[in-house]
Amino acid sequence: QTTLRGAADEAGIDIGIAVDANQLQNNATYRNLVATEFNSLTAENAMKWDATEPSDNSWNFSGADAIVDFAEDNDQTVHGHTFVWHSQTPQWVQNLSASAMQAAMVDHINTLANRYEGRVDSWDVVNEVVSDNNGAMRDSFWRNTLGDGYITTAFQTARAADPNADLYINDYSIEGDNAKSDRIYTIAQGLNSQNLIDGVGFQSHLILGQVPSTMEANLQRFIDLGLKVRITELDIRIQTPADANELQQQANDYERVVSICAELADCSGVTVWGLRDADSWVPGVFPGYGAPLLFDDNFGKKPAYNAVLEALGGD
Ligand code: G3I
Repeated sequence: QTTLRGAADEAGIDIGIAVDANQLQNNATYRNLVATEFNSLTAENAMKWDATEPSDNSWNFSGADAIVDFAEDNDQTVHGHTFVWHSQTPQWVQNLSASAMQAAMVDHINTLANRYEGRVDSWDVVNEVVSDNNGAMRDSFWRNTLGDGYITTAFQTARAADPNADLYINDYSIEGDNAKSDRIYTIAQGLNSQNLIDGVGFQSHLILGQVPSTMEANLQRFIDLGLKVRITELDIRIQTPADANELQQQANDYERVVSICAELADCSGVTVWGLRDADSWVPGVFPGYGAPLLFDDNFGKKPAYNAVLEALGGD
Protein backbone atom coordinates (compact mmCIF):
# COMPACT_ATOMS: atom_id res chain seq x y z
CA GLN A 1 0.00 0.00 0.00
CA THR A 2 1.30 3.43 -0.90
CA THR A 3 -1.20 5.65 0.90
CA LEU A 4 -1.82 5.99 4.63
CA ARG A 5 -5.43 5.14 3.97
CA GLY A 6 -4.66 2.00 1.99
CA ALA A 7 -2.28 0.75 4.66
CA ALA A 8 -4.65 1.61 7.52
CA ASP A 9 -7.58 -0.09 5.79
CA GLU A 10 -5.51 -3.25 5.48
CA ALA A 11 -4.37 -2.99 9.10
CA GLY A 12 -7.99 -2.49 10.17
CA ILE A 13 -7.48 0.80 12.00
CA ASP A 14 -8.48 4.39 11.47
CA ILE A 15 -5.99 6.90 10.20
CA GLY A 16 -7.80 10.15 10.86
CA ILE A 17 -7.32 13.81 10.13
CA ALA A 18 -8.68 16.92 11.84
CA VAL A 19 -10.20 19.06 9.13
CA ASP A 20 -11.19 22.65 8.64
CA ALA A 21 -14.58 22.92 6.94
CA ASN A 22 -13.62 25.96 4.84
CA GLN A 23 -10.52 24.38 3.39
CA LEU A 24 -12.39 21.16 2.75
CA GLN A 25 -14.94 23.10 0.72
CA ASN A 26 -12.62 25.55 -1.00
CA ASN A 27 -9.18 24.02 -1.50
CA ALA A 28 -9.03 21.19 -4.05
CA THR A 29 -5.53 20.04 -3.10
CA TYR A 30 -6.50 19.87 0.57
CA ARG A 31 -9.70 18.03 -0.27
CA ASN A 32 -7.94 15.52 -2.47
CA LEU A 33 -5.34 14.63 0.16
CA VAL A 34 -7.97 14.30 2.86
CA ALA A 35 -9.94 11.92 0.65
CA THR A 36 -7.04 9.77 -0.51
CA GLU A 37 -4.81 9.60 2.58
CA PHE A 38 -7.29 9.26 5.46
CA ASN A 39 -10.19 6.97 6.30
CA SER A 40 -11.52 8.98 9.24
CA LEU A 41 -12.37 12.65 9.86
CA THR A 42 -12.67 14.86 12.90
CA ALA A 43 -13.87 18.47 12.79
CA GLU A 44 -11.05 20.60 14.15
CA ASN A 45 -13.56 23.25 15.24
CA ALA A 46 -16.88 22.88 13.40
CA MET A 47 -18.66 20.59 15.88
CA LYS A 48 -17.71 22.59 18.97
CA TRP A 49 -20.35 24.44 20.94
CA ASP A 50 -19.39 27.95 19.79
CA ALA A 51 -19.72 26.82 16.17
CA THR A 52 -22.92 24.77 16.49
CA GLU A 53 -25.01 26.69 19.07
CA PRO A 54 -23.63 30.23 19.30
CA SER A 55 -26.76 31.41 21.09
CA ASP A 56 -29.43 29.52 22.97
CA ASN A 57 -31.27 27.13 20.68
CA SER A 58 -29.92 28.86 17.58
CA TRP A 59 -28.06 26.26 15.58
CA ASN A 60 -25.46 26.37 12.83
CA PHE A 61 -24.49 23.07 11.30
CA SER A 62 -22.98 24.34 8.06
CA GLY A 63 -19.39 23.34 8.80
CA ALA A 64 -20.27 20.14 10.62
CA ASP A 65 -22.66 19.04 7.87
CA ALA A 66 -20.05 19.73 5.19
CA ILE A 67 -17.56 17.51 7.00
CA VAL A 68 -20.01 14.68 7.64
CA ASP A 69 -21.24 14.85 4.02
CA PHE A 70 -17.65 14.69 2.80
CA ALA A 71 -16.95 11.67 4.97
CA GLU A 72 -20.02 9.92 3.65
CA ASP A 73 -19.11 10.68 0.03
CA ASN A 74 -15.63 9.32 0.62
CA ASP A 75 -16.53 6.32 2.75
CA GLN A 76 -14.78 7.66 5.85
CA THR A 77 -15.70 7.28 9.51
CA VAL A 78 -16.23 10.35 11.71
CA HIS A 79 -14.94 10.81 15.25
CA GLY A 80 -17.02 13.64 16.74
CA HIS A 81 -15.36 16.40 18.76
CA THR A 82 -16.77 17.49 21.23
CA PHE A 83 -19.94 17.83 23.32
CA VAL A 84 -18.75 19.26 26.64
CA TRP A 85 -15.62 21.39 26.99
CA HIS A 86 -14.71 24.45 29.05
CA SER A 87 -13.18 26.15 25.99
CA GLN A 88 -14.97 27.38 22.86
CA THR A 89 -18.25 27.37 24.75
CA PRO A 90 -20.25 30.59 24.45
CA GLN A 91 -20.73 32.96 27.35
CA TRP A 92 -24.48 32.38 27.38
CA VAL A 93 -23.86 28.82 28.57
CA GLN A 94 -21.31 29.83 31.18
CA ASN A 95 -23.69 32.34 32.78
CA LEU A 96 -26.61 29.94 33.32
CA SER A 97 -27.91 28.74 36.67
CA ALA A 98 -27.23 25.11 37.56
CA SER A 99 -30.59 23.79 36.45
CA ALA A 100 -30.55 25.80 33.22
CA MET A 101 -26.95 24.80 32.49
CA GLN A 102 -27.75 21.14 32.94
CA ALA A 103 -30.77 21.48 30.66
CA ALA A 104 -28.66 23.28 28.05
CA MET A 105 -26.01 20.56 28.16
CA VAL A 106 -28.57 17.77 27.77
CA ASP A 107 -30.28 19.60 24.92
CA HIS A 108 -26.97 20.29 23.18
CA ILE A 109 -25.86 16.66 23.37
CA ASN A 110 -29.26 15.37 22.25
CA THR A 111 -29.37 17.72 19.29
CA LEU A 112 -25.92 16.82 17.96
CA ALA A 113 -26.09 13.11 18.72
CA ASN A 114 -29.53 12.80 17.11
CA ARG A 115 -28.62 14.87 14.06
CA TYR A 116 -25.60 12.73 13.27
CA GLU A 117 -26.85 9.37 14.51
CA GLY A 118 -25.50 6.67 12.23
CA ARG A 119 -23.10 9.12 10.56
CA VAL A 120 -20.80 10.00 13.43
CA ASP A 121 -19.31 6.76 14.71
CA SER A 122 -17.84 7.96 17.99
CA TRP A 123 -17.89 11.08 20.15
CA ASP A 124 -15.61 12.86 22.55
CA VAL A 125 -18.33 13.31 25.16
CA VAL A 126 -16.23 15.33 27.58
CA ASN A 127 -12.92 16.99 26.79
CA GLU A 128 -10.14 18.00 29.19
CA VAL A 129 -12.04 17.56 32.44
CA VAL A 130 -8.87 16.90 34.46
CA SER A 131 -6.47 19.73 35.32
CA ASP A 132 -2.69 19.78 35.03
CA ASN A 133 -2.44 20.11 38.81
CA ASN A 134 -1.50 16.65 40.02
CA GLY A 135 -4.60 15.00 38.62
CA ALA A 136 -7.16 17.24 40.31
CA MET A 137 -10.45 17.77 38.50
CA ARG A 138 -10.45 20.90 36.35
CA ASP A 139 -12.14 23.90 37.94
CA SER A 140 -14.19 24.71 34.88
CA PHE A 141 -17.50 26.55 34.87
CA TRP A 142 -19.10 23.15 34.32
CA ARG A 143 -17.73 21.74 37.55
CA ASN A 144 -18.14 24.94 39.51
CA THR A 145 -21.82 25.15 38.58
CA LEU A 146 -22.89 21.51 38.35
CA GLY A 147 -20.35 19.59 40.43
CA ASP A 148 -18.50 16.52 39.16
CA GLY A 149 -21.80 14.80 38.30
CA TYR A 150 -21.99 16.67 35.01
CA ILE A 151 -19.61 14.10 33.53
CA THR A 152 -21.91 11.15 34.24
CA THR A 153 -24.92 13.15 33.06
CA ALA A 154 -23.18 13.93 29.79
CA PHE A 155 -22.38 10.27 29.16
CA GLN A 156 -25.88 9.12 30.15
CA THR A 157 -27.38 11.64 27.76
CA ALA A 158 -25.11 10.68 24.89
CA ARG A 159 -25.67 6.96 25.48
CA ALA A 160 -29.43 7.37 25.36
CA ALA A 161 -29.33 9.69 22.34
CA ASP A 162 -27.22 7.37 20.16
CA PRO A 163 -26.79 3.90 21.67
CA ASN A 164 -24.63 2.79 18.74
CA ALA A 165 -22.00 5.51 18.91
CA ASP A 166 -18.78 4.82 20.79
CA LEU A 167 -18.39 7.28 23.65
CA TYR A 168 -14.96 8.62 24.64
CA ILE A 169 -13.41 10.71 27.36
CA ASN A 170 -10.60 12.78 25.82
CA ASP A 171 -7.62 14.62 27.32
CA TYR A 172 -4.01 15.76 26.80
CA SER A 173 -0.86 14.89 28.77
CA ILE A 174 -2.34 11.51 29.65
CA GLU A 175 -0.24 9.53 27.15
CA GLY A 176 2.17 8.36 29.85
CA ASP A 177 1.53 6.89 33.27
CA ASN A 178 1.14 9.94 35.52
CA ALA A 179 -1.20 11.60 38.02
CA LYS A 180 -3.42 12.98 35.28
CA SER A 181 -3.80 9.65 33.48
CA ASP A 182 -4.43 8.01 36.87
CA ARG A 183 -7.38 10.35 37.36
CA ILE A 184 -8.72 9.62 33.87
CA TYR A 185 -8.36 5.94 34.69
CA THR A 186 -10.49 6.32 37.82
CA ILE A 187 -13.16 8.29 35.96
CA ALA A 188 -13.20 5.81 33.06
CA GLN A 189 -13.45 2.89 35.48
CA GLY A 190 -16.48 4.47 37.16
CA LEU A 191 -18.24 5.22 33.88
CA ASN A 192 -17.42 1.78 32.55
CA SER A 193 -18.98 0.09 35.57
CA GLN A 194 -22.23 1.76 34.45
CA ASN A 195 -21.63 0.82 30.80
CA LEU A 196 -21.56 4.48 29.81
CA ILE A 197 -18.17 4.66 28.10
CA ASP A 198 -16.43 2.85 25.25
CA GLY A 199 -13.06 4.48 24.93
CA VAL A 200 -10.37 6.88 26.05
CA GLY A 201 -8.90 9.47 23.70
CA PHE A 202 -5.26 10.39 24.17
CA GLN A 203 -4.82 13.72 22.40
CA SER A 204 -1.03 13.33 22.09
CA HIS A 205 0.10 16.90 21.48
CA LEU A 206 3.71 15.86 21.86
CA ILE A 207 7.10 17.59 21.89
CA LEU A 208 9.95 16.35 19.69
CA GLY A 209 11.83 13.47 21.32
CA GLN A 210 9.34 13.15 24.15
CA VAL A 211 7.08 10.19 23.40
CA PRO A 212 6.50 8.94 26.97
CA SER A 213 8.34 5.68 27.65
CA THR A 214 5.27 4.39 29.50
CA MET A 215 2.84 5.13 26.67
CA GLU A 216 2.23 1.57 25.52
CA ALA A 217 1.78 0.20 29.05
CA ASN A 218 -0.46 3.13 29.91
CA LEU A 219 -2.77 2.51 26.94
CA GLN A 220 -2.77 -1.18 27.78
CA ARG A 221 -4.11 -0.60 31.29
CA PHE A 222 -7.16 1.15 29.80
CA ILE A 223 -7.63 -1.71 27.35
CA ASP A 224 -7.50 -4.07 30.31
CA LEU A 225 -10.56 -2.28 31.68
CA GLY A 226 -12.37 -3.42 28.53
CA LEU A 227 -12.14 -0.03 26.79
CA LYS A 228 -10.89 1.07 23.41
CA VAL A 229 -8.10 3.59 23.18
CA ARG A 230 -7.54 6.14 20.42
CA ILE A 231 -4.85 8.67 19.58
CA THR A 232 -7.16 11.59 18.90
CA GLU A 233 -5.11 14.74 18.18
CA LEU A 234 -1.57 13.72 17.32
CA ASP A 235 1.03 16.35 16.53
CA ILE A 236 4.74 16.57 17.40
CA ARG A 237 6.09 20.07 17.66
CA ILE A 238 9.60 21.22 16.90
CA GLN A 239 11.45 24.42 17.68
CA THR A 240 11.42 26.29 14.39
CA PRO A 241 13.06 26.38 11.98
CA ALA A 242 13.28 22.60 11.98
CA ASP A 243 16.45 21.07 10.51
CA ALA A 244 16.80 17.70 8.75
CA ASN A 245 17.87 15.89 11.95
CA GLU A 246 14.84 17.16 13.77
CA LEU A 247 12.51 16.13 10.95
CA GLN A 248 14.05 12.65 11.15
CA GLN A 249 13.60 12.54 14.92
CA GLN A 250 10.01 13.62 14.37
CA ALA A 251 9.56 10.76 11.92
CA ASN A 252 10.89 8.33 14.53
CA ASP A 253 8.50 9.75 17.14
CA TYR A 254 5.52 9.45 14.79
CA GLU A 255 6.52 5.90 13.93
CA ARG A 256 6.64 4.99 17.61
CA VAL A 257 3.20 6.40 18.40
CA VAL A 258 1.48 4.90 15.36
CA SER A 259 3.18 1.54 15.96
CA ILE A 260 1.89 1.46 19.52
CA CYS A 261 -1.66 1.90 18.24
CA ALA A 262 -1.23 -0.50 15.33
CA GLU A 263 0.01 -3.24 17.65
CA LEU A 264 -2.82 -2.90 20.16
CA ALA A 265 -5.93 -4.72 18.97
CA ASP A 266 -8.20 -2.33 20.88
CA CYS A 267 -6.63 0.88 19.62
CA SER A 268 -9.28 2.17 17.22
CA GLY A 269 -7.00 4.55 15.38
CA VAL A 270 -4.78 7.59 15.17
CA THR A 271 -6.03 11.04 14.21
CA VAL A 272 -3.47 13.67 13.21
CA TRP A 273 -4.43 17.20 14.30
CA GLY A 274 -4.28 19.02 10.97
CA LEU A 275 -3.07 18.44 7.44
CA ARG A 276 -0.23 20.89 6.69
CA ASP A 277 2.17 22.49 9.12
CA ALA A 278 0.65 25.82 8.08
CA ASP A 279 -2.75 24.63 9.34
CA SER A 280 -1.55 23.85 12.84
CA TRP A 281 -2.69 25.58 16.03
CA VAL A 282 0.81 25.11 17.51
CA PRO A 283 2.70 28.29 16.47
CA GLY A 284 -0.15 30.48 17.69
CA VAL A 285 -0.12 28.95 21.15
CA PHE A 286 3.56 27.98 21.50
CA PRO A 287 5.57 30.76 19.85
CA GLY A 288 8.84 29.43 18.45
CA TYR A 289 7.39 25.94 17.92
CA GLY A 290 5.74 24.47 14.86
CA ALA A 291 6.16 22.08 11.94
CA PRO A 292 4.24 19.40 13.87
CA LEU A 293 2.32 17.59 11.11
CA LEU A 294 2.82 15.12 8.24
CA PHE A 295 2.67 17.56 5.32
CA ASP A 296 4.66 20.78 4.91
CA ASP A 297 3.15 24.15 4.04
CA ASN A 298 3.07 23.22 0.34
CA PHE A 299 1.34 19.86 0.84
CA GLY A 300 4.70 18.05 0.50
CA LYS A 301 5.16 14.78 2.37
CA LYS A 302 7.59 15.07 5.28
CA PRO A 303 9.78 12.24 6.64
CA ALA A 304 7.07 11.75 9.28
CA TYR A 305 4.61 10.83 6.52
CA ASN A 306 6.78 7.94 5.36
CA ALA A 307 7.30 6.82 8.94
CA VAL A 308 3.56 6.67 9.55
CA LEU A 309 3.07 4.77 6.31
CA GLU A 310 5.61 2.19 7.45
CA ALA A 311 4.13 1.94 10.91
CA LEU A 312 0.77 1.16 9.28
CA GLY A 313 2.42 -1.60 7.24
CA GLY A 314 2.62 0.24 3.92
CA ASP A 315 5.69 1.13 1.92
O1 G3I B 1 -13.78 31.41 13.86
C1 G3I B 1 -13.05 32.54 14.30
C2 G3I B 1 -13.07 33.61 13.25
O2 G3I B 1 -14.38 34.04 13.08
C3 G3I B 1 -12.17 34.75 13.71
O3 G3I B 1 -12.11 35.73 12.73
C4 G3I B 1 -10.77 34.26 14.01
C5 G3I B 1 -9.87 35.36 14.53
O4 G3I B 1 -9.02 34.91 15.56
O5 G3I B 1 -10.86 33.26 14.99
C6 G3I B 1 -11.63 32.15 14.58
O6 G3I B 1 -11.66 31.24 15.64
C7 G3I B 1 -10.49 30.51 15.87
C8 G3I B 1 -10.84 29.03 15.75
O7 G3I B 1 -9.72 28.25 16.10
C9 G3I B 1 -11.28 28.64 14.35
O8 G3I B 1 -10.26 28.88 13.43
C10 G3I B 1 -9.99 30.80 17.26
O9 G3I B 1 -9.53 32.14 17.34
C11 G3I B 1 -8.89 29.86 17.64
O10 G3I B 1 -8.58 30.05 19.02
C12 G3I B 1 -9.34 28.44 17.43
O11 G3I B 1 -8.27 27.59 17.78
C13 G3I B 1 -8.60 26.22 17.95
C14 G3I B 1 -8.38 25.81 19.39
O12 G3I B 1 -8.64 24.43 19.53
C15 G3I B 1 -9.25 26.62 20.32
O13 G3I B 1 -9.34 26.08 21.57
C16 G3I B 1 -7.71 25.42 17.04
O14 G3I B 1 -8.03 25.67 15.69
C17 G3I B 1 -7.89 23.91 17.33
O15 G3I B 1 -6.89 23.19 16.67
C18 G3I B 1 -7.74 23.64 18.83
O16 G3I B 1 -7.98 22.28 19.05
C19 G3I B 1 -7.84 21.82 20.40
C20 G3I B 1 -8.84 20.69 20.58
O17 G3I B 1 -10.13 21.12 20.25
C21 G3I B 1 -8.80 20.15 22.01
N1 G3I B 1 -7.45 19.79 22.39
C22 G3I B 1 -6.43 20.80 22.18
C23 G3I B 1 -6.45 21.28 20.73
C24 G3I B 1 -5.34 22.29 20.49
O18 G3I B 1 -5.53 23.45 21.24
